[in-house]
Amino acid sequence: MAEQPVDTVTEVPVAIVGAGPAGLMLAHRLARAGVDTVAIDIRSREEIEITQRAGIIEADAARDLIELGVSDRILRDGFEHEGVDLRFGGRSHRIDFQAQVGESVWLYPQTDVFIDLADARARDGGTVHFGVRDTEVVGETTERPIVRFTAADGTRHEIRARYVVGSDGSRSICRNLVPADQRTQFFREYPFAWFGFLCDAPKSAPELVYAHSEHGFALVSQRTESVQRMYFQCSPDDSADAWSDDRIWATMQARVAGDDGFQLVEGPVTEKSVLIFRSFVQQPMRWGSLLLAGDAAHTVPPTGARGLNLALHDVKILADVLVRALGGEGEAALADYEPAALGRVWRAQNFSWWMTQMLHTPPGALDFDVRRQLGELDNVVNTRAGRTYLAEQYTGWPARSGD
Ligand code: DHB
Repeated sequence: MAEQPVDTVTEVPVAIVGAGPAGLMLAHRLARAGVDTVAIDIRSREEIEITQRAGIIEADAARDLIELGVSDRILRDGFEHEGVDLRFGGRSHRIDFQAQVGESVWLYPQTDVFIDLADARARDGGTVHFGVRDTEVVGETTERPIVRFTAADGTRHEIRARYVVGSDGSRSICRNLVPADQRTQFFREYPFAWFGFLCDAPKSAPELVYAHSEHGFALVSQRTESVQRMYFQCSPDDSADAWSDDRIWATMQARVAGDDGFQLVEGPVTEKSVLIFRSFVQQPMRWGSLLLAGDAAHTVPPTGARGLNLALHDVKILADVLVRALGGEGEAALADYEPAALGRVWRAQNFSWWMTQMLHTPPGALDFDVRRQLGELDNVVNTRAGRTYLAEQYTGWPARSGD
C-alpha cells in the first residue's frame, strides 16, 4: 500500500479515522474552535444511515447537539421521555426521571444524530470522505503522523496531521496501533445477545418498557408514531433469518405478558438483526499522537443505551484537550484526556452491566437467580435510593456535579 502513488496531499491539524457520530461530532466541535479536520470512514454515508443503532440521547448530550447547532430536529422529531417503565412480575413500574433528578432523556435514533452531523459537516464545508479503503496510519508515535487511504473515486490521499483520532468503532484498526505489550484490554462476554427489529405498528407505550421475565429480557422502544423498535434476549448463535414474524411476536408477547392491561401491538417486521453483546475497554486511550474515542476504546452492552452517549462525552473532552494542545499548551494538554474520559467510561460500563445482569436470564439460571433479580427490581422501583440511582444513571451523570 505504501508503494501506491499519492494523488493528493493535505495538511491538517487533526485527521479523524472513523466518521460515525463520535468522529463527526469531534470534527464539528473542532471546527467551531477554528481547527480544521479531515474525517474518513470505510463505510458509505448510506450504509451508516441505515445501520440501526440505539435511540436514547441523555440530557446533556441532547442539550449539546441543540446548542452547538447540530440538531434542532431533535426537538421536532425526537420525543422527550420523562421516565421509563421496568416491567416484572407481570406489571409495569414507572421510574419518573423528572421527579427523581429533574432530567429527561430524548428518544432520537443514532441514525438521525449521524444524518444531522453529516449534514452539518457538509453545510459548514468540512471534509469527510466516506467509502474509503486501504487506510493506513503511520508515524503515530511521532509529531507528524500520516493517514493514507484510497477515496471512493479511486484517488490515493495522504493526510499529514499533528494528531490522529481513532473513532473507528468496535472493529477499530486504530486501537491495534497501540503495541500489544503496551495496552490492556478488559473484556466481558455474555452468554446471550439481542435480537433487534423494526416494525410497522402504533406505539404500545409512550415511554420505553424494559421487561424482565422468566423467559428472558425484552425491550419495547419506539421510533415514530407508526414505526416501533424492539429487542429481545436471544442466543449469540441465533440468525435473524431463523425468526419468522410469528415467532418474533410470540416471543415478545410471552416476555411482556401480565395482568395490568398492557397490550403489545403487533405489526409487520421490516428489519431484523442480532446484535453483539459485550463489555470492552482498551487502555491507554492515547498512544503518542494517536487518541482513541468512542467504541474504538470501549464497547458497552446495549442495555441502557450508553454507547453513543459515552462516545459523545469522549469527544467533548477530546475536542477541548486538542484545542488546548494545538493552541500552545502542546502535548502536555493531552495528558488530561484519559483521566477525564475514563471515569465516565467505567461508570457506564458498570451501569450497562448492572442493567444487563438485572434484566436478562442467562442459560441455566437457577430459580434463586430469577427470584434474586425480582428482589433487586423491587429494590429499584420501591426504594427512593433505587429510583434515584436508576434515574441518575439513565439520564447520564451530569457534567455539572461530581464528575
Ligand atoms: C434503544 C436501544 C437500547 O439499547 C436501549 O437501552 C434503549 C433504547 C433503542 O434503540 O431505542
